[in-house]
Amino acid sequence: MAAKHFPLSELDSQFYQAADAFFSAHAKTALTFDDVTLATLYSEVLPRNTQLDTRLADGLELHIPIISADMDTVTEARMATAMALNGGLGLIHYNMSDAEQIAEVTRVKKHVHGLIQEPARVLAEQLIGDVLALIEKNRFSFSTFPVVDAQGRLVGLLPGHVVKQRYAKRKVSEALTPRAQVHCVKEAELGPDPVARADRFFTEFPGIHKLLVVDDEDHLRGLFTMSDVERIAQERSAQFKPARDPNFRLICGAAISATRNAAGDLDRKRVLHHVGTLVERGVDVVAVSTAHGFSKGVGDTVRLLRDAFPKLPIIAGNVTSAAGVEFLAGCGASIIKVGQGPGSICTTRIVAGVGIPQLTALYVCSRAAAERGVTLIADGGITKSGDIVKALTLASAAMCGGLLAGSSEAPGEVMEFSGKLYKQYRGMGSLGAMKAGSAARYGHSSKQPAQKLAAEGIEALKEVSGSVDRVLAQLIGGIQSGMGYLGAATLPQLREHARYIRVSPAGQREAGPHDVVELKTGG
Ligand code: XMP
Repeated sequence: MAAKHFPLSELDSQFYQAADAFFSAHAKTALTFDDVTLATLYSEVLPRNTQLDTRLADGLELHIPIISADMDTVTEARMATAMALNGGLGLIHYNMSDAEQIAEVTRVKKHVHGLIQEPARVLAEQLIGDVLALIEKNRFSFSTFPVVDAQGRLVGLLPGHVVKQRYAKRKVSEALTPRAQVHCVKEAELGPDPVARADRFFTEFPGIHKLLVVDDEDHLRGLFTMSDVERIAQERSAQFKPARDPNFRLICGAAISATRNAAGDLDRKRVLHHVGTLVERGVDVVAVSTAHGFSKGVGDTVRLLRDAFPKLPIIAGNVTSAAGVEFLAGCGASIIKVGQGPGSICTTRIVAGVGIPQLTALYVCSRAAAERGVTLIADGGITKSGDIVKALTLASAAMCGGLLAGSSEAPGEVMEFSGKLYKQYRGMGSLGAMKAGSAARYGHSSKQPAQKLAAEGIEALKEVSGSVDRVLAQLIGGIQSGMGYLGAATLPQLREHARYIRVSPAGQREAGPHDVVELKTGG
């Protein structure tokens, strides 16, 4: 049902202006998120009832408008899986070999929610003492293990009640439940909804808490546990569903670079072969991701891909001008990434002296995008949910790096300094990342000696922030609040309703907590 909308009064409208009037009135100043605030409007919309679905391209719809950045300290298979499970999208970075990137995408596409794909397993000839050591070493919270032979074929199940110190000298083979008595399902029989299949099984067999999955040759392929399946059944009634493709697989994107061959030309053969393999594996979108998208190399790559894969959603960027959007749309891009220098680890504006503060860039690009029928991703500079609300008044989704880099699903080890836990977060234009492969993104050759690469990003640390689920829940809650204040039940309504006003430096200070000592309640 369409939410009722009371327009602002004439007096209000002199202060709180729609995008065209507001940004035109500030055409001489580049503005970013903290420079503006959004006016509250009459609302009948409760935040919890708002819909965050967003259509990025034909065949690419998300249930939340958040994308994890294609950076080597942000998005690999674990992050992309978590993003899609929450209704968003992850773009696998390209600081790895083509074969590795294909494997990462395949991992996401093969992810069966609730199915532990590589369950810990033991061998029949091991001692129960070895199993106890395995539990201790990995801090497993479970003690029931599938037992396999050297070829990975299932030979039984070791029940938790025999994994005890008193049996430490006994062989697993003496204590296991033999294969014939172990409940299994064939991988090919899981059907389109494997969790529902496992759920039915647990109801039919009271007291059994584990269901093993095997292939036609009886190799162990996975494991369902009743507690996971029950948790998923609860999640299914959740408001934001996982983002899936028509075959019920999680969606996943991959970034590619416009690599050049020895002669300095676009390496068409390599690009086509790599993207062709990604498409075979089910990739839902590819991103030609560079610092300067309004360039021949990016245009040629997009055109090449559009000709070869007419239906594939293509993200291209980054740009900050209407002409840049028109150029990439003309080359065949379906989604354009906007952002030059707003990122938390970026130094492009300092090093190269270029780039546009993000809200002005988004406004300018949004008008060209509407004309050309393409959508926009606001990429970089998002430090809080309020920034996402502002970005979504002009774009269809926001891309986050720093906000997600401290979560457990981001690649990299946890480090401890002065009693606090951190993870590494680095710009793809930092020296470390460019040496690992991303130099092409910044127009450099990775074969150049390090001192010749002009870094446009820094290497940094992010405080550990727990799981992506928790981080996204906070962000989504904030976006929904913003929509409630603007009387917007959907994202298109948010774009239509938004009214902006410039904030003074004192107004910016007023926006954060002030004149108090903040208490950390841990809540
Ligand atoms: P946030 O603010 O979310 O930004 O941490 C992530 C975005 O920053 C861009 N990016 C860079 N920009 N130098 C830059 O100028 C870099 O080294 C760099 N690395 C990433 C990128 O668009 C990403 O999504």
